[in-house]
Amino acid sequence: MYILLMGPPGAGKGTQAAKLVDRFSIPHISTGDMFRAAVKEGTPLGLKAKEFMDAGQLVPDSVTIGIVKERLAKADCQTGFILDGFPRTLEQAAALDSSLNELGIELERVVNITAPDDELVRRITGRRICKGCSATYHVVLNAPKVSGTCDKCGAELYQRADDQEATVAKRLEVYQDQTEPLITYYRDKGLYSEINGLQPIDKVLDDVVNSLRGDRA
Ligand code: AP5
Ligand code: MG
Ligand code: ZN
Repeated sequence: MYILLMGPPGAGKGTQAAKLVDRFSIPHISTGDMFRAAVKEGTPLGLKAKEFMDAGQLVPDSVTIGIVKERLAKADCQTGFILDGFPRTLEQAAALDSSLNELGIELERVVNITAPDDELVRRITGRRICKGCSATYHVVLNAPKVSGTCDKCGAELYQRADDQEATVAKRLEVYQDQTEPLITYYRDKGLYSEINGLQPIDKVLDDVVNSLRGDRA
């Protein structure tokens, strides 16, 4: 099962990807998570990516395309994957097409999770992430049982550096300018489904799973 999850910042891509991993046992490939891991390790890639992420800008295509290409070539992608947050530009989409072509893989569905901007801002500014296992929470909308502590592994929760309100506004603008054109790109290929992200997490999941069965938006 080869799935691509699209959607503006805070729409719920990561939340849904975690549930799809549980259900389908295929890897979750999030370029945002890959960049954050590199930042944490202090690698040259991390240092470069951090500059762009903290400004709410996209990391340059030349960097991003390379790391995804490498990741897709790994053995665990042979039975499927959930791509989250890649591609985000038409250049990345074209590069993905050629990589998948070389690997003999066909994308099954491109799922775009949508929500209005005010809700996206509310979700992002309240988001908390586990330092141990990266599980995602929200202080109000998806709160852990004990405030500041992960339900799954007991580690401490933190707020992402780019989740400040001013950076969020920039990220939303960048999404509209650079990533929204991909909607037409994938609609033209007959792969596109749009899901209303303004529903409870499990209802969004049902809609995503139904869209994989072929229901089109
Ligand atoms: P990335 O990490 O991908 O961030 P993003 O796209 O801005 O998306 P988010 O992770 O913020 O949101 P999400 O949709 O995953 O929402 P979540 O499930 O967490 O990228 C970060 C940066 O890396 C980019 O800005 C860029 O600099 C760089 N980058 C990454 N990929 C790149 C690429 N391809 N090219 C260039 N640069 C790249 O949910 C959000 C919150 O809402 C959570 O608190 C959650 O609990 C809550 N929530 C989720 N669903 C619901 C629901 N249905 N109801 C109520 N609350 C909900
Ligand atoms: Mg995410
Ligand atoms: Zn945890």
